[in-house]
Amino acid sequence: MAKRVYIETYGCQMNVADTELMFGVLGRAGYARADDPAEADVMLVNTCAVRDNAEQRVIGRMGELQRYKQPGGVLGVVGCMAQRLGPALLERVPRVDLVVGPDAYRNLDQLIGLAAGGQRTADTGFREWEHYEDVPPVREKGPTAFVTVQRGCDYRCTFCIVPYTRGAERSRRLEDVVREVQALAAEGTSEVTLLGQTVNGYHDGRHDFADLLRSVGSVDGVRRLRFTSPYPTDFTPRVIEAMALTPAVCEHVHLPVQSGSDAVLRRMLRRYTRARYLEVMEQLRAGIPGITFSTDIIVGFPAETDAQFEETLSLVAEADFDDAYTFKYSVREGTPAARLRDHVPADVASARLDRLIEAVRANVRRKNVARVGQVHEVLVERPARRGDLMLGRTRTNQLVLLDLPAGAAGEYHRARLTGTTGSTFTGAVVAPALAVL
Ligand code: 5AD
Repeated sequence: MAKRVYIETYGCQMNVADTELMFGVLGRAGYARADDPAEADVMLVNTCAVRDNAEQRVIGRMGELQRYKQPGGVLGVVGCMAQRLGPALLERVPRVDLVVGPDAYRNLDQLIGLAAGGQRTADTGFREWEHYEDVPPVREKGPTAFVTVQRGCDYRCTFCIVPYTRGAERSRRLEDVVREVQALAAEGTSEVTLLGQTVNGYHDGRHDFADLLRSVGSVDGVRRLRFTSPYPTDFTPRVIEAMALTPAVCEHVHLPVQSGSDAVLRRMLRRYTRARYLEVMEQLRAGIPGITFSTDIIVGFPAETDAQFEETLSLVAEADFDDAYTFKYSVREGTPAARLRDHVPADVASARLDRLIEAVRANVRRKNVARVGQVHEVLVERPARRGDLMLGRTRTNQLVLLDLPAGAAGEYHRARLTGTTGSTFTGAVVAPALAVL
């Protein structure tokens, strides 16, 4: 009988895409997919290393998963935490048999074989050429899909572990990306999100990100095109023009700012000032009317003063973000920031985080309340967790609950926003006749 593999995914969208890739690698090797760890011969946890609490959660989860381990079964850690800790993870967590980093998924079948044979194994080699081009990812069929276009990162933001877990930056060839998107569109996927650590810096040697947007945006059947995450200063005029002139490109950008203080940005080795960041937003707003912005913000970076934190608070209002993910700085061993002096005490960082969350929430609520009454195009994605409503998304990235049957997944509707919790919306379909457009 085919071996069954269960994969649990933590962290970013690229991990979601990498899990699909691993199902591709293992499916090709004859594995069947298990949706329940109790039914699996092989359990893999695809991990994140970006903050300590993400790693602590995984350690805890390994303890739970080991109970499902079959005789001869394998429990593996893959992804960024595996890469960061390497073979040391085998020593630290005795129940783990397998540790595999993001560049070694091609070897998963052999590595699992070794581990199943009782040989605890780690492969955390970097392979800069690796794009898994020959491995079709196994995705859940649906209206939306992630497509990795760039792996690794050459920036050196001082807080960030990713360059050390995902290695050097490299871009897939444009033709390969387009071919994958064509296949997705042929299967009924109409929204594609391009993934890369600094995705707007995409370059395959011949084509830049502007070329990529135009090419992917003109694939038959692609009606919405998104990307994440861009680096603020990599929005060249060419890229903004391509966004403006490619109808599929959605009016939303996730634009991580990290801090509103120039002094902190400098210590983070971010390559922009507050003013430059705001200028990039202005250029995007001018080129793409109606564009919305979400961001990432870190508080409590080493030596962040009260005054510097206040500058972050004032940026939330000035930039007028539509959404923000907020984090307390987490020391990552081996990153340059870990060696900086004057680490901020935990209670101070927590208090700052609370204030920041409040400021973000107030801004988002005010903007969302003002949106009630507007009519938006909504792509219906999936059943909502509660009730029997369907969850959809506007081009500007607002989540909308609609009273539609489960069969409506994948449909486009024009909907009026009828109410908001402050973060998500309820909506009512206004022109069902347009749904088939
Ligand atoms: N501590 C806290 N947050 C971090 N991020 C990255 N590294 C750290 C860290 N060491 C945040 C950044 C990034 C997001 C994915 O995670 O805001 O944009």
